[in-house]
Amino acid sequence: MHRVIEDYIRMCHDGYKLGWHERNGGNLTYRMRPEEVEGCRNLFTQDRHLDLPIDASALAGEHFITSGSGKYMRNMPLEPERNMGIIRIDDDGAGYTILWGLEDDAKPTSELPSHLLNHIARCAVTDGRCRVIYHAHPANITALSYTIEPDARVLSRILWQSETECAVVFPEGVGILDWMIPGGTDIALETSKLIRTYPAVVWAFHGIFGSGETFDETFGLVHTIEKAAEIYLKAKGAGIVRTIGDDQLRLLADAFGVKINEDFLD
Ligand code: 13P
Ligand code: ZN
Repeated sequence: MHRVIEDYIRMCHDGYKLGWHERNGGNLTYRMRPEEVEGCRNLFTQDRHLDLPIDASALAGEHFITSGSGKYMRNMPLEPERNMGIIRIDDDGAGYTILWGLEDDAKPTSELPSHLLNHIARCAVTDGRCRVIYHAHPANITALSYTIEPDARVLSRILWQSETECAVVFPEGVGILDWMIPGGTDIALETSKLIRTYPAVVWAFHGIFGSGETFDETFGLVHTIEKAAEIYLKAKGAGIVRTIGDDQLRLLADAFGVKINEDFLD
């Protein structure tokens, strides 16, 4: 098995083991490096073409590993070729070709529009370094979205205050999108606007989208957010009597050399 496919499967399964992928919940896309595409070329035996409902011309010619729609992260290691695939975006960005996997007429994740628009947005703000977009359904961050208005400042402050690492891991904060119908172009457009500013965006009452340069960075980001949400909910249940102050958040940002989003501090 090719290394990049192994790493992809490991991330899917790690998310499953943490309870973030009930049934077919969640999806993962990875924008492949040219050398990874070359390494996998011997697998490319299909050429099934499908149209896209969005303009992906900014990703023309890029290859992505994607999970399949309706497929279970739990099953990813057992039958990769049925549960995931490799696609190439058309030169005009209007569709894509399935080159490997997604066997038996399977399709890429229904959230492919969100993934591709998020890739475009994050590539633009990271000088092309972003390669991973990950959607998961972790219970604590989803539960937290029921306790606040959909406001990035409110959410980010709660998370920064709930675990000392948070301000260092996501100094920009975390975005939040109010409830929308998943799986479509509208939610994709709205998410991609927010993810330009924040490396992760919570979908209220649904889950989270995270982005990053590597599988580790992206998984670690979502893991850190989910852990902070868990700590917050536990502390809130027990009764919060004190928390990390804004001056401490500033000290933390200085000590670790990150630029914290000052708009979110008092
Ligand atoms: P897919 O099975 O199409 O990837 O959808 C799962 C999901 O989480 C939708 O938001
Ligand atoms: Zn989902």
